[in-house]
Amino acid sequence: METRVLTDGSVTLSPPVAGDIDVITEACQDPAIAAWTNVPSPYTRADSVRFVGDIVPAKWADGFPEWAIRTSLHERLCGMVGFLERGAEIPEIGYWIAPDARQHGLATAAVRLACDFAFAADGMGVSRIEWRAFVGNLPSAAVARRTGFQYEGIARHGTVQRGVPRDVWVAGLLPDDPRTPTGTWPI
Ligand SMILES: CC(C)(COP(=O)(O)OP(=O)(O)OC[C@H]1O[C@@H](n2cnc3c(N)ncnc32)[C@H](O)[C@@H]1OP(=O)(O)O)[C@@H](O)C(=O)NCCC(=O)NCCS
Repeated sequence: METRVLTDGSVTLSPPVAGDIDVITEACQDPAIAAWTNVPSPYTRADSVRFVGDIVPAKWADGFPEWAIRTSLHERLCGMVGFLERGAEIPEIGYWIAPDARQHGLATAAVRLACDFAFAADGMGVSRIEWRAFVGNLPSAAVARRTGFQYEGIARHGTVQRGVPRDVWVAGLLPDDPRTPTGTWPI
């Protein structure tokens, strides 16, 4: 897949570049990112070099985008949003926001843009997007709920974090779902 840049006029998603490596390294020192995602922990500059130089290009080539989240108000990258393969043709959305850029709706805006792209015929053309978060990740659940994902339940040991099985909340978004809070969320 060719890389694509997406924007809603305020938030822009574009692939991370070499100039983002140090900002990503710094953001991934955040204990919340280590606790709630699968990034390496401890996170080193070499991890960021490999992420930007190898992992992200390989994911785009496989049809699974990864974008840096940027705004005109922030000089530095604010976070990341992207997809990983959850099953046959089903992408799972993932995201983090740097601690100093939280609480401004950037994750919400980025998830909306990424999901529009995933459903678009000239994007990924998928018919379902999955969201999974370790049970208890309330800030992530709030983003998923706000963007229209519908809560579907708990998958016990539904994912593995650094070798440890973890229970996950599971939610899904279909192309015709309303993009507003709906369904019964446990939060
Ligand atoms: C999960 C995570 C990305 C959520 O970040 P966030 O800043 O809370 O989410 P948003 O950027 O969408 O901002 C939403 C907050 O900004 C507020 N906000 C301000 N302006 C807003 C706007 N225009 N639109 C939406 N929300 C807005 C919202 O009220 C909300 O605050 P609240 O939760 O107190 O109500 C962040 O906590 C994080 O990076 N955590 C660590 C990594 C992680 O857990 N990733 C997900 C793994 S599944």
